[in-house]
Amino acid sequence: MDVVCVNGEKHINDHELLQAQAHVWNYLFNFINSMSLKCAIDLGIPDVIQNHGKPMTVTELVAALPINATKASSIYRLMRILVHSGFFAQQKLGNNDQEEGYVLTHASRLLLNGDPLSVTPFLKAMLDPILTKPWHFLGAWFQNDDPTPFDTAHGRTFWDYGGHDPMLSHFFNEGMASDARLVSSILIHKCEGVFQGLNSMVDVGGGIGTVAKAISDAFPHLECTVFDLPRVVAGLQDRGNLKYVGGDMFEAVPAADAVLLKWILHDWNDEECVKILKRCKEAISRGGKGGKAIIIDMVLTEKNHKVNDASIETQLFFDMLMMVLVTGKERNEEEWATLFLAAGFSDYKITPIMGLRSLIEVYP
Ligand SMILES: C[S@@+](CC[C@H](N)C(=O)[O-])C[C@H]1O[C@@H](n2cnc3c(N)ncnc32)[C@H](O)[C@@H]1O
Repeated sequence: MDVVCVNGEKHINDHELLQAQAHVWNYLFNFINSMSLKCAIDLGIPDVIQNHGKPMTVTELVAALPINATKASSIYRLMRILVHSGFFAQQKLGNNDQEEGYVLTHASRLLLNGDPLSVTPFLKAMLDPILTKPWHFLGAWFQNDDPTPFDTAHGRTFWDYGGHDPMLSHFFNEGMASDARLVSSILIHKCEGVFQGLNSMVDVGGGIGTVAKAISDAFPHLECTVFDLPRVVAGLQDRGNLKYVGGDMFEAVPAADAVLLKWILHDWNDEECVKILKRCKEAISRGGKGGKAIIIDMVLTEKNHKVNDASIETQLFFDMLMMVLVTGKERNEEEWATLFLAAGFSDYKITPIMGLRSLIEVYP
């Protein structure tokens, strides 16, 4: 095979050169996967196929979609890449029929609108132009002294922006709530022991209360408080053993036997996390029982662990997301342990029960 000269160095053959070019193309066009998926959601394709109730031909799909007639022939092309990326599959219409129709896959079932575990609100929030714009400023951010690329792009922090843009705040809170529904269902079924012996719990940065609602329903004896920024909990109604309190977790956290921190600490840098954890330790100490903090977040796996490449990539995606939108990061076990120690906690237990995320119980 011919040896090709790249950059003055004669060391790769033409096959390797073409592979390298394909590698660059695949990565530079990676956004086409997410934007094609967003388009399918915008058009309601998963729901249309689900409602059809059997494999749906491209002609049937085109007829059912709210699209301009001149675009009909492009739907096949959109579906072709989404079949390739595993969001739809093709099945024969019948035993004796050669024609194929589209069906959902496990992944697109998670995108159905009516499904309580739907991740569609999360997808819509993450692919909103306000959240994707900062990626264009990542390089500039490395050269300036702004805290995040989000600040470079929008002139204020992510959390400030939410306070000024009710639409973003709504999308974001709904996105978080959709993830919270999925996590709560696992938490309550797989980890009920975690709540044993507790009489009260505060969900710190609990958003609109999706997790706390599920926990308060599953454990009626447990007094649950959703603690979040005043603008997030404004107007939300207390009910039964669930109440809402507005405040700032850097100032003080309401007293309870336990605090829950789901997807909170990865939003903040180490110094900020230590402050939050100290406020949490004070809160559980005031609860009188010694209590514990229950954290739901990723624990980064090292490359040599038994994790597949896709999971490693997802962890790296989340870590970059935390760098671009907020001041946070994903942490490995050692980094978590350092934070717990710095905040005055003495012990912790990690239970990896939620796919890429773990349940971490931290004791004073
Ligand atoms: C990534 S969201 C997680 C929401 C929820 N725990 C969940 O996982 O669905 C982070 C939450 O922290 C809240 N938050 C941000 N700064 C806060 C502060 N200083 N005090 C209290 N909550 C805050 C946000 O409003 C938001 O609801």
